[in-house]
Amino acid sequence: MRLFFAVFPPPEVQSAAHRATESLRGRGDSVAWVRAENLHLTMRFLGECSEEEARRAGDAAREAAARAPAFSAALGGAGAFPDARRARVLWLAMSAGEPEVTALATALEEALEAHGFPREVRRFAAHLTLGRMRNGEADWGARLAAVSVDPTPWRVTELRLVRSTLSPSGSRYETVLAVPLPAG
Ligand code: 2AM
Repeated sequence: MRLFFAVFPPPEVQSAAHRATESLRGRGDSVAWVRAENLHLTMRFLGECSEEEARRAGDAAREAAARAPAFSAALGGAGAFPDARRARVLWLAMSAGEPEVTALATALEEALEAHGFPREVRRFAAHLTLGRMRNGEADWGARLAAVSVDPTPWRVTELRLVRSTLSPSGSRYETVLAVPLPAG
């Protein structure tokens, strides 16, 4: 099974983020947009895992969560990887909670390493992916700069281990485990 760790904003925040994508759509751009209910902050991608690895990942998540109290987060401006003028992945940044989400990702990385998972080589960058180019890259600078998102804060109270099943109509996500963060 293909697994990843994520923080999911509540439905009203997912809807606000999704509304931001509406202003970006059009002009026949070849972008696979993420469905509202799938919008999330990826904490760590694990990829293909066995049942045993999934169990170890769950143990690691419980240890990491115990060290990371619940916190407030809010979405921020739009950007792209690798950069706005050569965009391949479009995302929203965080306007609140980024240090805490990064601390949670760091705690998770350390716990995963202690449970035998190889260290992630890419540096953690908090972002909520809105869409991905189906092929190539494009200049999205002006359109991304014009995006404004309702910065309504929400409380991050759990870390989820999620199973992703790929299909031509988009990914299907199933929560395998939801680990609560201690009250902050
Ligand atoms: P991203 O969208 O936040 O960039 C589930 O597929 C999530 O895992 C995706 O949302 C994606 O994060 C991340 N992901 C998918 N494939 C990945 C890969 N090969 N390496 C790292 N992260 C990946």
